[in-house]
Amino acid sequence: MDSQLLLVLLLLLLGVSGPRGQEPGPGGPSEEPPEEEIPEEDGILVLNQHTLGLALREHPALLVEFYAPWCGHCKALAPEYSKAAALLAAESAQTRLAKVDGPAEPELTKEFAVTEYPTLKFFRDGNRTHSEEYTGPRDAKGIAEWLRRRVGSSATRLEDEESTQALIDAQEVVVIGFFQDLQDEDVATFLALAQDALDMTFGLTDRPQLFQKFGLTKDTVVLFKKFDEGRADFPVDEELGLDQGDLSYFLLTHSLRLVTEYNSETSPKIFAAKILNHLLLFINQTLAPHRELLAGFGEAAPPFRGQVLFVVVDVGADNSHVLQYFGVKAEGAPTLRFINMETTKKYTPADGGPLTADSVTAFCHAVLGGKIKPYLLSQEVPPDWDQRPVKTLVGKNFEQVAFDETKNVFIKFYAPWCTHCKEMAPAWEELAEKYKDHEDIVIAELDATANELEAFTVHGFPTLKYFPAGPGRKVIEYNSARDLETFSKFLDNGGELPAEEPTEESSAPSPETPANSTSEPKEEL
Ligand SMILES: *[C@@H]1O[C@H](CO)[C@@H](O)[C@H](O)[C@H]1NC(C)=O
Ligand SMILES: *[C@@H]1O[C@H](CO)[C@@H](O)[C@H](O)[C@H]1NC(C)=O
Ligand SMILES: *[C@@H]1O[C@H](CO)[C@@H](O)[C@H](O)[C@H]1NC(C)=O
Repeated sequence: MDSQLLLVLLLLLLGVSGPRGQEPGPGGPSEEPPEEEIPEEDGILVLNQHTLGLALREHPALLVEFYAPWCGHCKALAPEYSKAAALLAAESAQTRLAKVDGPAEPELTKEFAVTEYPTLKFFRDGNRTHSEEYTGPRDAKGIAEWLRRRVGSSATRLEDEESTQALIDAQEVVVIGFFQDLQDEDVATFLALAQDALDMTFGLTDRPQLFQKFGLTKDTVVLFKKFDEGRADFPVDEELGLDQGDLSYFLLTHSLRLVTEYNSETSPKIFAAKILNHLLLFINQTLAPHRELLAGFGEAAPPFRGQVLFVVVDVGADNSHVLQYFGVKAEGAPTLRFINMETTKKYTPADGGPLTADSVTAFCHAVLGGKIKPYLLSQEVPPDWDQRPVKTLVGKNFEQVAFDETKNVFIKFYAPWCTHCKEMAPAWEELAEKYKDHEDIVIAELDATANELEAFTVHGFPTLKYFPAGPGRKVIEYNSARDLETFSKFLDNGGELPAEEPTEESSAPSPETPANSTSEPKEEL
């Protein structure tokens, strides 16, 4: 091997830069002294307070993640972040992704007012004082697309019929802005919206022949879709201009099918739709008579667009969490339920008449007009509900037991998946055993995921409440230690802990809420 080559290899191995860095090429521009090399990890620049400035100078589009080594969300983001960097590198995009260890760089976290991890900021043209907060999704494709829509244009410029038709054909939903003057403020509004609406594809044109082809004479945003009516127009208000909020709502409602089939792919869209009323048709898709009901259901949908979202739930698919949430059994299909997502009030049709466009319409009007009372979930009262020391309560016997004026009733409201509930279960059993001969004391439990109460809503698990004997429907919240000794003191002392004993709030782990449990996100529907 050539000895010079060997030397270069050796130098490279030792991490010394090769001869190129030392002697400027003949006639080449005289180079600045080599700046510090920024280290990389999985395609991500690793920055500190000395190298951030350099990275900003070198990269006109730079996304910086402030992370903490102990932060779980940061760990979850890391592989997606690296994949996003790889996606962009594969397109030879100029955009670079970087990270800063926040706790190790207090000066940077102070400068950029980082208060939580991860925080991501997007820097353009090396502008250190005016970064944009990253608001996009936390997956690789989403991150890459969010950046593309900022570095490039967020809408494809369309010049002729051919490319316009190709764009429309390429996706389920395509949004095209037809503007006579591309310098207009409305165009900026349109492009800004397109920057964040990552799940839709956008086009933009000012060509008269395209206005003509699509039958337009005025500035209009057109949503083309491969389903339902195929196209929906949003004319720009000539006086008020384009309102981003109105357009956003229009696109959201019109990009959804009139009738959406519930599944893991559509459910995020259903929840993001900001349409508070949902009408659900539960059917068994394998049965022809059930499928035939879809026609009438769909026929009823158009007048309610934007007001009531029509959803079909297949009882045969993996939708048991939805069925459970509504208290619907597979054998109960076909059946309708209505829910207001804000109040979580649920409604069921009064009669079991045939499911037709007319009966569906009438049911919606009845709910929206306040003519039907919401229903509450309840299991059936088990025949042996009072046979064990811990009594089993459900929605249907709760009122009668809890508010019995001759009894002091102590109730555990639990969720089957809640770990704190499982931890305290033995103490609850012991408590019930200990007081089973006290005629006036009832120790009970209620599965609050399957039973709803008119008196109050249970938000965290476990929730412990004491219902003292006597009139007035008194309810006392129990927030102390969950052990036999403290429970007993509380009972013996008539529903409060003795004053001389300082209660230790911290000894009772706070109730688990469904939000951070690993269970099905049942509060979603
Ligand atoms: C950074 O951006 C802001 C807002 O666009 C601008 O006012 C400022 O002059 C820019 N600073 C630099 C150094 O380019
Ligand atoms: C749906 O109907 C088919 C055919 O009758 C039946 O075998 C199946 O068990 C039903 N699915 C459910 C979840 O009830
Ligand atoms: C849920 O949140 C509570 C209160 O913030 C916390 O104590 C508990 O450990 C969390 N549970 C899980 C499973 O993360």
